[in-house]
Amino acid sequence: MKVICVENEAAVGKEAARLISAMIRLKPDCNLGLATGTTPMTTYNELVRMYKEEGLDFSKVSTFNLDEYIGLDADHPQSYAYFMDEHLLSKVNIKKENTHIPNGKTLRVDRTCSAYDKKIEDRGGLDLQLLGIGRNGHIGFNEPGDKFVAETHQINLTDDTIEANSRFFECEEDVPRTAITTGMRSIMHAGRIVLIATGESKADAVHAMLYGEIIPQVPASLLQLHPEITVIVDRAALAGSSLADSLFSAE
Ligand code: PGA
Repeated sequence: MKVICVENEAAVGKEAARLISAMIRLKPDCNLGLATGTTPMTTYNELVRMYKEEGLDFSKVSTFNLDEYIGLDADHPQSYAYFMDEHLLSKVNIKKENTHIPNGKTLRVDRTCSAYDKKIEDRGGLDLQLLGIGRNGHIGFNEPGDKFVAETHQINLTDDTIEANSRFFECEEDVPRTAITTGMRSIMHAGRIVLIATGESKADAVHAMLYGEIIPQVPASLLQLHPEITVIVDRAALAGSSLADSLFSAE
């Protein structure tokens, strides 16, 4: 595991975009696993800038998003499909048919989940997975639980996640209670993982991911077993870890 600590949110986005753009340049038809939330916004802004100013070419890239709320249409402003269009997909030259997000309005959740896994597998798996991390250590919507779940599945969101995500909705009651999330298998099988985290509120989760026991109560802890993972954080998200102590005392 490689940990890169940079000054602030903007620098996290630049560094993550640098790694993603390197993948696109090396393998123009790569499969990218993408994340939503506040953290990846600076990464997507930088990728859009690279597309406009440096000709970064998305024409052969395929994307697979981690998760989607159950019950929201793709054109609902809080759906992750809408988020992805707004922040990246409508702003670069990616082909619509190459972008994939679980269907939150499906009437057959089980079938949608297994079809999503099959699609990823049939395309040869993910070359690079971008991840954020929840305050409770979730990745995608793989919430803390009794076991790691391998497949794409339906999940009941935890109170902590509902509260954290209520900032995007008018009130907490409006936050959907369930979601579809890819499981740990497609994440762990990705050729490379780039995990980004910013801000003090993520410090405990980042510490548990880096140094804690590998347990399903901290889903991100499983990432310790991935051979090619780069964790990019700002100082606040690393605060309190022994790594931060040694990094910052060296200045
Ligand atoms: P955030 O969400 O980037 O909005 O903090 C990250 C996550 O919950 O995975």
